[in-house]
Order: sequence, then structure tokens, then C-alpha cells
Amino acid sequence: MNSPVKVAVTGAAGQIGYSLLFRIASGELLGKDTPVQLRLLEITPALKTLEGVVMELDDCAFPLLAGVEIGDDPNLVFDGANIALLVGARPRTKGMERGDLLEANGAIFTAQGKALNDHAADDIRITVTGNPANTNALIAMSNAPDIPTERFSALTRLDHNRAIAQLSAKVGAPVSDITHMTIWGNHSATQYPDLFHAKVAGRNAAEAVGDDSRDWLENTFIPTVAKRGAAIIEARGSSSAASAASATIDHTRDWLLGSPADDWVSMAVRSDGSYGVAEGLISSFPVTTGDGSWEIVQGLDIDDFSRGKIDASVAELDEERTAVTELGLI
Ligand code: NAI
Repeated sequence: MNSPVKVAVTGAAGQIGYSLLFRIASGELLGKDTPVQLRLLEITPALKTLEGVVMELDDCAFPLLAGVEIGDDPNLVFDGANIALLVGARPRTKGMERGDLLEANGAIFTAQGKALNDHAADDIRITVTGNPANTNALIAMSNAPDIPTERFSALTRLDHNRAIAQLSAKVGAPVSDITHMTIWGNHSATQYPDLFHAKVAGRNAAEAVGDDSRDWLENTFIPTVAKRGAAIIEARGSSSAASAASATIDHTRDWLLGSPADDWVSMAVRSDGSYGVAEGLISSFPVTTGDGSWEIVQGLDIDDFSRGKIDASVAELDEERTAVTELGLI
């Protein structure tokens, strides 16, 4: 048995937290040989709810759960953390402008970036799920100068998984047959789910879709994946939670333990300028991962259609970066 890994989760009393914590504690993040100690951060008014969640964690008697600590001070909760899953964020409320949202989240991710910088373990890996995830990750990264930039990432794995599910349903193949899916850009409605490099049982996805592939790609696949979050809210009355928790597990597990052989995953990471994405933006790319590192897959052909879609999403990320720069957050 390995020694316990400290996993910090923010927004732990929220919807995603309610699914995420139990899966981490059962061993789905790090495997059945690695005990975990949970360190849970919430805002003060939510601590009582969080105490109830901890009671339920206790009641599961998870053999791998080596302790739970909760609190409202990131400096204490992140102390010694090896993994930080930053889920908690300020939701957009009625009448809130985009700038207000960036500012409210900026305050959260500035403080959390500093606390991680000062208190996390040397091997810290950080995944931001809370929206706007890419720019929140950029803010945290910019406020943690002592943590290597490649330790920060934002979640686009839910979009990736949604894209796989849509293609699987369209061609009638099991999800396990779908490989080489890519989400480019921002985790927002401008994201670009790229079918051109995807494969179905090793065969080019466009060929597998058949004659209407172009029409399906432009008019069904891309809008369905990009607007899936809104469709879930419409159907369920609240936003995706279990699927977001599942994607947060997939993303972080693959980062630490390795993406599948002969395949890649989508992850928003700091751009090094690959594929013309402005350097320094946290943008989604196809990556291979393992052992806590990632590498952007190089050499993919990008046609004019894909170029336009990637550029549009990256332009949005650039605008968000300008806005948070003007607010003095990075
Ligand atoms: P929720 O509102 O149920 O829970 C959020 C929790 O965060 C609340 O308990 C709140 O008290 C807490 N929180 C707020 N500020 C905090 C702070 N400074 N420190 C610690 N905790 C804090 O929301 P839910 O459904 O769990 O979603 C969480 C976030 O994940 C949202 O921003 C949502 O938009 C985002 N999300 C991202 C997805 C992705 O694919 N990247 C998919 C689905 C949701």
C-alpha cells in the first residue's frame, strides 16, 4: 500500500463535490493501492452542509479514506496538498455582467493561487473545474509564481466525453471504439470539438459517419456538444454535476496515471504557441499524459474550417485574458 495522497477539493459542499468526493474516496482517482486524505475547502456559510457530507463519507467506511479535513481558509486546507481540484466558483447570477463574473472569480482564484504557491506540496497538480475554468486557471497560475506552469490545467474533458458519446450514438459503435477526439479552445460555447482526427474502431470518423458527415458535423455535432451544458440545465433544472465530477476524475487520473495507449485526451493547458494558439493562454489541446506530465500532440493537419473554429475560441480566451489583466488579476 502506498502512503496517503492529500487531495484538496474546493466547493466541496456543492453539486459536483457531492459526486466527486465519494468517487475519490473509493479509489477511482488514484487506484486501489493508494489511500487518500481529503482536504475540503468551502466558504464559511457552507461549512455546516460540508459537515453533513463528511458524515456520509464516514458512513461509507471507505478502506482507502485516510482522513478528512475541512475548512474555509485555503492556506490551511491546501497545506501539503499533492492534488488540488478547484471546483468551487462564483456562479453567474441575474444581472451579472461578464466582467463582474471574471472579477468575482478573480478574487477567489487569486487567493487560491497564492495559497497553493505558499502551502501545497512540491509535486502539486492542479485541475480547475469551476467556471470560467480556463481563465480561472490562468489567474491561479499567474498568482503562483513558484509552481511550474505545467502543473495547472482546466477541465475540457467533459466536452471531450460528450463529443465521444455523440459520435458513438451517431455511428452506432460503443464508446470504447471512439479514439483521438479533440476539444480545442475554451470551455464555453465557442469550444471546437474536432471530428477530423477522430477514429471509430481505427477508421476515420467522417468516413464512419457517412455521406452527411459535413452537414452533421456543422449543424448537429458541434452545436450539440457545445450547448450540452444548457440542454442538461433545461432538462434537469440544474447544471451537469455527476458527469462533471466523472470528467474531473478522468482528467486528473489520466494526467497522473497515463492516457490510453495509442490515443490522446483533451486538456486545457498553458499554450506554448502550438497550433497558432497565443502563448500563455490556458487552451484545450489534444495531449498525451502520464506520470503527472502532459505533452501537446504535434503535427496534426488543421484545415481552413478547423482553423477558423480554433481561432474564434482562442480569440475569446484572449479577450478574457485582456479583461483580467485590466482588472489587475494577473
Ligand atoms: P454549486 O453551486 O453546487 O457548488 C459550488 C460550491 O462552491 C458551493 O458549495 C460554494 O459554496 C462553493 N464555493 C464558492 N466560492 C468558494 C470559495 N471561494 N472557496 C471554496 N468554495 C467555494 O456548483 P457545482 O454545480 O458544483 O459547479 C461548480 C463549478 O463547476 C461551477 O463554476 C460550474 O459552472 C462549473 N462546472 C464546470 C464544468 C466544466 O466542464 N469545466 C462542468 C460543470 C460545471
